[in-house]
Amino acid sequence: MAKKALITGVTGQDGAYLSEFLLNKGYEVHGIKRRSSLFNTDRVDHLFDGHHDKSRHNFHLHFGDMTDSMNLTRLISDIRPDEIYNLAAQSHVHVSFETPEYTANADALGTLRILEAVKFLGLESKTRIYQASTSELYGKVQEIPQNEKTPFYPRSPYAVAKMYAYWITVNYREAYNIFACNGILFNHESPIRGETFVTRKITRAVSKIALNLQDCVYLGNLNAKRDWGHAKDYVKMMWLILQYKEPKDWVIATGQTTMVRDFVKLAFLYCGIELEFKGQGVDEIGVISSIDYQKALNLNIDLSHLKIGQVVVKIDPRYFRPTEVDLLLGDPSKAQNELGWKREFSLPDLVDDMMQSDLKLMKRDQFLQNNGYKIMRYYE
Ligand code: NAP
Ligand code: GDD
Repeated sequence: MAKKALITGVTGQDGAYLSEFLLNKGYEVHGIKRRSSLFNTDRVDHLFDGHHDKSRHNFHLHFGDMTDSMNLTRLISDIRPDEIYNLAAQSHVHVSFETPEYTANADALGTLRILEAVKFLGLESKTRIYQASTSELYGKVQEIPQNEKTPFYPRSPYAVAKMYAYWITVNYREAYNIFACNGILFNHESPIRGETFVTRKITRAVSKIALNLQDCVYLGNLNAKRDWGHAKDYVKMMWLILQYKEPKDWVIATGQTTMVRDFVKLAFLYCGIELEFKGQGVDEIGVISSIDYQKALNLNIDLSHLKIGQVVVKIDPRYFRPTEVDLLLGDPSKAQNELGWKREFSLPDLVDDMMQSDLKLMKRDQFLQNNGYKIMRYYE
């Protein structure tokens, strides 16, 4: 019998990669998606064969919501999963300052609803639970690097909600013997990262600037440092955490940290554009200092519209957060030693993967624009 996995947040970045990973392992995968007025399954469409082809029906989507306990309990009762990956969340830190109550409901109480459903249905000894915890828990960091024993100091409604989710997971493990684990994952990105997270915002904007579809990108705090890995490497760890001999909490990170400003430089450099930063605070600007036309031509990009000295990065204080997390740097030693954590993607590999994919997407936009279609995106 194939193992059954239930993934909340299946339509998100990690949900999509994890579904693909588990299907390749022979799992029957069930995903919970929210009802939306537009299709929201772009990231998993390639895995879905429709309801009617019975020969290939290992991937199932169900409507649901983390704020609806009856719905979650019914789904868990019907599916009786061997593993639950609780990935659904209002996952944007900045947005959580604007929607704190909803964030707490979905991210904190949503986790409780899953745990309580498993207990209520008597599935404590059958169903293993992975909780998507986060390096945001460390917030105003109490030590560098951060490991499983580093005290938490959350700095946003998102992080505070995730702190409740972390501890309720530990509590249900200790109180009811549920195999429930926290993966404390540091930032992980990919070509299918949400467009408003900083890495994807940068790779999309740099692609557009290189293709003459945009002049400048507006960013917030360029000094923030993040420990960035590739989501493909990280979903494998979610699975390994649930296969381990006992339930534990794990830090998954690369052990390297990079400034937002340096990520911007790497993304431009991919297209042959070198940047230097001038000025300070809200007046800081990113200026083109050299252009490698040949490198760009090798990528089929014509950079003749760009000039040395041109300003392509500016600061917009709208993107500053009321409280910021300045530095994240994880220590993944425990996962390396006990789970065999090894990653395939370095930071330059990640930038290459994202840039390659976004250039392809933006070339499509460029083609449409050249043929009279207007491409508009209001929110970044
Ligand atoms: P994501 O791309 O934002 O995906 C979040 C998923 O949750 C989406 O499928 C979203 O549905 C769904 N969702 C949001 N609110 C929901 C609700 N009320 N009911 C049901 N589903 C809901 O996030 P991700 O990057 O894949 O991250 C996955 C999880 O890991 C999240 O819990 C995040 O907080 C956590 N995490 C992420 C990182 C990272 O760097 N990526 C690091 C540490 C922890 P829609 O598609 O309909 O919006
Ligand atoms: N989003 C965004 N947009 N962030 C910006 C911008 C901008 O224009 N300019 C600078 N930043 C800075 C943010 O202030 C933050 O310090 C850093 O870039 C990273 O921001 P995000 O990419 O939005 O990610 P995050 O670190 O806040 O949160 C992500 O990682 C967490 C794990 O540490 C999310 O995926 C969370 O769900 C996850 O838990």
